[in-house]
Amino acid sequence: MKKVFLILFSFYSFIMGGNMEKISLPSPEFKGKISVEEALKRRRSVRDYKQLPLTLKELSQILWATDGKTIDWGGRTAPSAGATYPLEIYVVVGNVENLKSGLYYYEIDTHTLKIIKEGDLRQELSKAAYNQISIKNAPIVIVIAGIFERTTNRYGKRGERYVFMEVGHCGQNIHLQAEALGLGTVMIGAFEDDKVKSVLGIKEDVFYLCPVGKK
Ligand SMILES: Cc1cc2nc3c(=O)[nH]c(=O)nc-3n(C[C@H](O)[C@H](O)[C@H](O)COP(=O)(O)O)c2cc1C
Repeated sequence: MKKVFLILFSFYSFIMGGNMEKISLPSPEFKGKISVEEALKRRRSVRDYKQLPLTLKELSQILWATDGKTIDWGGRTAPSAGATYPLEIYVVVGNVENLKSGLYYYEIDTHTLKIIKEGDLRQELSKAAYNQISIKNAPIVIVIAGIFERTTNRYGKRGERYVFMEVGHCGQNIHLQAEALGLGTVMIGAFEDDKVKSVLGIKEDVFYLCPVGKK
């Protein structure tokens, strides 16, 4: 009897533990305040942000735009060579309403966040990116990371360039969505790979750091 109770308790803890870690994000909106043409015309790299928090709704919208799910079979906002989906999206949170600072993993399929590491990582992340101030001051930094093998297993060496192309699609998605929300962003490619991976504590290759904040 005691054994059965222990097994049931472990199972319950496992299920609850898994659920507790996941944070549901508000559903994304599919209509914005400006046209795609306006967003394209206005898009500019922005490196200074107001010291104001982002809302969970804004965070949700920008993550969904980055590479969110758009159709039941798993298609996303960004195209992917042979639907191999090599990219993984993380977000460093420093100042978002009702969300503690830390590194989160964006689970695309469920549109949820999973905390990976607690604490404000922006200062350390900025140091790993040659002290770029945009990273230090932004309320969030989206991290576009990925696993080459998912695409090179199918396409060989050429798959490497496909991964970089896909990163670019996600970056532009962030730019246009930020513009539509009245936010600013800049694509950061200049950083020390190993240092960034060590600050974040992740194994994937990191391609872009994308600070986002209020203009
Ligand atoms: C691949 C790539 C890497 C970049 N890396 C950085 C960077 O490390 N830091 C930065 O402030 N801007 C970076 N940028 C932004 C460019 O400096 C910016 O796009 C350029 O000056 C043109 O300005 P605009 O985006 O306002 O049109 C990068 C852009 C690209 C496409």
